[in-house]
Amino acid sequence: MLLEVRDLRTGYGAVEVVHGISFELAAGSMVGLIGANGAGKSGAMHAICGLLRHTGAVLLDGQDLARMSAHDRARAGLIMVPEGRRVFPGMSVRDNLLSASLHRRVRGRAQQTLDTVFHTFPRLQERLNQAAETLSGGEQQMLAIGRTMMGQPRVMVLDEPSLGLSPLFVQEVFRVIGALRETGLTILLVEQNVHHCLELSDYAYVLEQGHIVLQGAASDLLVDPRVRAAYLGTSNQPSEAEEVRQ
Ligand SMILES: Nc1ncnc2c1ncn2[C@@H]1O[C@H](COP(=O)(O)OP(=O)(O)OP(=O)(O)O)[C@@H](O)[C@H]1O
Ligand SMILES: [Mg+2]
Repeated sequence: MLLEVRDLRTGYGAVEVVHGISFELAAGSMVGLIGANGAGKSGAMHAICGLLRHTGAVLLDGQDLARMSAHDRARAGLIMVPEGRRVFPGMSVRDNLLSASLHRRVRGRAQQTLDTVFHTFPRLQERLNQAAETLSGGEQQMLAIGRTMMGQPRVMVLDEPSLGLSPLFVQEVFRVIGALRETGLTILLVEQNVHHCLELSDYAYVLEQGHIVLQGAASDLLVDPRVRAAYLGTSNQPSEAEEVRQ
């Protein structure tokens, strides 16, 4: 397993919101984490990336990162796409991208990675010299993902990348995540868009009130009556029309 999280507990101040969860990602796989608002998804993602204090183990390729800062975890290759499409607003698209590839592990391949980013997001190349703050919301999300790519993640963590985007950009973001996955990147995806998330993922976990209550192949969860009833707004009970016919 490339990433193994064991018995992770975290919270805000004295309030624990994630109560000892364990999950893992095989290299090259995409794993989804779904759950209702307030279930603890963001807390769990912040914890594994070192942005929130936690207990438990976070093993990247066997090395426990649990005592490292967020910065050092990112250098090791566990990198989260920042929420709210956080980019440096006054800096150009080019400088936003290049500033994310300065440390030793990735520097040598910065130009090559930049080419990959432009291949994935031609729009960023067209806007290379434009200040990030002048990009649309969807373009800023592309830039935030592009910056994360520049850090050459071994595991990319995405927390609700489609949140607040127009339907067109939602499609674009999922297209890009699918394309990243095709490159062999290992991805951990938190998404309120449960249908898209399960369609793209290999495996998924369901988090409820800080506990993992269900896990399985994403294709199985997609048709699981419990998942359908709770997160997809449908159950596989026969519809009223079908009941009438029977
Ligand atoms: N900064 C904070 N301080 C105190 N409590 C917080 C803070 N952020 C979140 N919480 C609480 O922690 C719990 C888990 O929140 P978290 O943001 O991890 O949930 P989530 O699953 O990501 O939800 P959402 O789908 O709304 O993003 C919730 O009860 C929330 O109210
Ligand atoms: Mg959240």
